[in-house]
Amino acid sequence: MRNNEIPTFTSAFEQEVYEGLTTFPKHLSSMYFYDEVGDKLFQDIMAMPEYYLTDCEYNILDTHKNEIAALFKKGGEPFSLFELGAGDGKKTKILLRHFVEQNITFDYRPIDISQNALDQLENTVKAEIPEVEINTLQGTYFETLRDIGNANGRRKIILFLGSNMGNLLHPQAVEFLKNMRETINENDLIFMGLDQKKNPQTVLDAYNDKTGITEAFNKNVLARINKEMGGNFDLDKFLHWEVYDPETGTAKSYLVAKEAQTVRIESLELEVRLKRWETIHTEISQKYDDAVVEWLADQANLKIVTEFTDAEQQFKNYVFKK
Ligand code: AVJ
Repeated sequence: MRNNEIPTFTSAFEQEVYEGLTTFPKHLSSMYFYDEVGDKLFQDIMAMPEYYLTDCEYNILDTHKNEIAALFKKGGEPFSLFELGAGDGKKTKILLRHFVEQNITFDYRPIDISQNALDQLENTVKAEIPEVEINTLQGTYFETLRDIGNANGRRKIILFLGSNMGNLLHPQAVEFLKNMRETINENDLIFMGLDQKKNPQTVLDAYNDKTGITEAFNKNVLARINKEMGGNFDLDKFLHWEVYDPETGTAKSYLVAKEAQTVRIESLELEVRLKRWETIHTEISQKYDDAVVEWLADQANLKIVTEFTDAEQQFKNYVFKK
C-alpha cells in the first residue's frame, strides 16, 4: 500500500493517526494519551503542585459533600451514579464514602477509555469501600452515553469531573451536552467540574511543569504509536509546547519537531515527513467562565440547577438538568 491509498484501519486510534499525520497542520487526539503508561503519567500530573485542578475539585467535593448528597438522593430514591472519564476515582471516593456513611442507596458505574484505569479503580473501590456496588464500562464518552441511556430504571446522576470536557472545542462540547441530555430523564442530574479562567500564568504553569511530566504525557501518544503500530518516532526530536490564550480561555498543547525528519509507521505502511519546527497539535484544555457555561447549557437546552466552587473561584462544579 502506498501513501496515496487510504488503508483500512483496525482501530479508531489507527484511523486518527493516519488522518492526523497526513493532513496539514498535523494533529493527534489527546484521547490516545491514556494507556498504562499514560494513566500513570496523568496520576503524576494530578499530584504535581502546579496542577491545581485536582486539589481544587477535591476540596470543593469535600466541603460540599452534604449538600451534594442531599441534591443527589432527592427524597431517598435509589440512583445510579455514572462517571465519565473516571480515571483513578480519587475525588469520587469522597462522595462514595460519604454516601455509604449516609446509608444512601446507589450503585456506581464508572466509565473510562482505559480498561487499565477501570481495573485499578474497581480493585481500590472494592478494597477501600466494599459496600459500594460497582460496575465498570470501557469506551469513549460518545459510545458509552448510549449504554447509559439504556441502563436500568434507577434515576441517573452523571458525574463528569476534572474539567474533562475541556478537551472538547465548544461546538463538540455542545454536541456532547446534547447527547447527554438525550440520555437523561426529567429527574436526572449532570454534575460537571469545569476549570475556570484565571491568572494566565497559573494555567500555563499547570501544563508546562519544569519536571517534564506533562512533556512525557504529551509525548506518550508518539510512544504508543511506536509500540502499537511499529512507529519509529524519536521522542527527543520533539519539544512540548504549551500556549494559553486568556481571551478565549483555550490552552493548547503541541509537539514541535526540532529537526526535519521522516517517521515510518509500519502497520499503516506510512511515511510521515516533518519539516523543522513543524507542529503536531495534541490537546486543548478549555477554561470557562459563567457566561460561557450558560451559553453552552443554553445551546444544549440544559438548565443550571446550582454550582459549587472554592473561595478563589478557581474551579466550579455545575449541576445541570433537562
Ligand atoms: C484530564 C483532560 C482534564 O486537560 O487538564 C493534564 C489532561 N493534559 N495535563 C487537562 C491534561 C495535560 C487534563 N484532563
